[in-house]
Amino acid sequence: MKFRGKDVLVWSVNNYLGLANHPEVRAVDAEAAAQLGMGYPMGARIMSGQTDHHEQLERDLSAFMQKEDSFLLNFGYQGCQSAIEALVNRHDVIVYDSESHACMIDGVRLHQGKRYVFKHNDMESLETQLKRAKTLIGKTGGGILVVTEGVFGMAGDQGKLAEIVSFKKEYGFRLFVDDAHGFGTVGENGRGAGDAQGVHDEIDVYFGTFAKAMATIGAFVSGPADVIEYFRYNMRSQTFAKSLPAPIVVGAIKRLEMMITQPQHKEQLWKVARALQSGLKKAGFNIGATNSCVTPVFLQGGLSEATNLTVDLRENYGIFCSIVMYPVVPKDVIMLRLIPTATHNLDDVEYTIETFKKVAAKLAEGKYVGEGIANWA
Ligand SMILES: Cc1ncc(COP(=O)(O)O)c(C=O)c1O
Repeated sequence: MKFRGKDVLVWSVNNYLGLANHPEVRAVDAEAAAQLGMGYPMGARIMSGQTDHHEQLERDLSAFMQKEDSFLLNFGYQGCQSAIEALVNRHDVIVYDSESHACMIDGVRLHQGKRYVFKHNDMESLETQLKRAKTLIGKTGGGILVVTEGVFGMAGDQGKLAEIVSFKKEYGFRLFVDDAHGFGTVGENGRGAGDAQGVHDEIDVYFGTFAKAMATIGAFVSGPADVIEYFRYNMRSQTFAKSLPAPIVVGAIKRLEMMITQPQHKEQLWKVARALQSGLKKAGFNIGATNSCVTPVFLQGGLSEATNLTVDLRENYGIFCSIVMYPVVPKDVIMLRLIPTATHNLDDVEYTIETFKKVAAKLAEGKYVGEGIANWA
């Protein structure tokens, strides 16, 4: 990628499988845009926004996800938020992981009943909240919705889905999983974190986005036919908004087909991810508890050190990666977040690790200490 005219090695784009600029994908996208126009269809699904392409993609997704039905969402963020909202009423209780993505938290905020948060991936805390929820619904007559992520997008650890579903029998909840980062990257052909953990069937509503592994836009939910049918008429962000443009849908059909029939993209992604993660560990870096492609690197330092280090990486070493700072992480922690893709290679990995060793040494020597936040311009 070029950043302000300079070539940089980017670890910060959502393009896990490298499909964004794949010639087959670009040809289909261009042909669909030329044939159909980017404006088509000109309405919400429920009005005039339904096409054969939308229906085909929903069928393809259902077959791939091994769920009864699927519903396309014009944006992942709003779709996820409004799917959560649609699943509950004021008698129900939502029990959700404390590190859930903002769109899930916003969905929880729209809920008019009680919500109980459990500590991130902490099964004791989950059970405590499930007990409270069960007591409450005993009075309200509602149900429990447990909400978590398949692969947590910030630190890369998978939601403990296998452990969570083991509580289902006793607490009788419905499980909603946002697998934005797992779809396309983990499980068979990229079926996701539930598949990787052998509990895919126990996920009641699976949310995936086209914006990460497929590097396009839009999203979907898959689940039981009656739930999906309910979504079609009750998910406010879809009922009252334009449906996905048909060329985007045609492009997603192509990408899904490639996910299934061209495993080499996922294999390359994992080759890069494994080399990156094992190389960083070998070099002494703390990469947390990731068990996905998302690769965090935790360093010690304040805000000014974080920004100075990132500018140094970008301007002097040509490496562009995201930093995560306080308040997402504690004040004295710097988290660099690397997103490997199938378009990276092992030379990129080696160069990055060697560079990280250099900047970590500079950090330890106090070379990034400064006043305030570095000038990004
Ligand atoms: C876990 C998670 N859920 C949902 C979203 C939103 O998806 P989209 O970019 O398709 O709106 C994201 C994107 O950052 C995400 O990381």
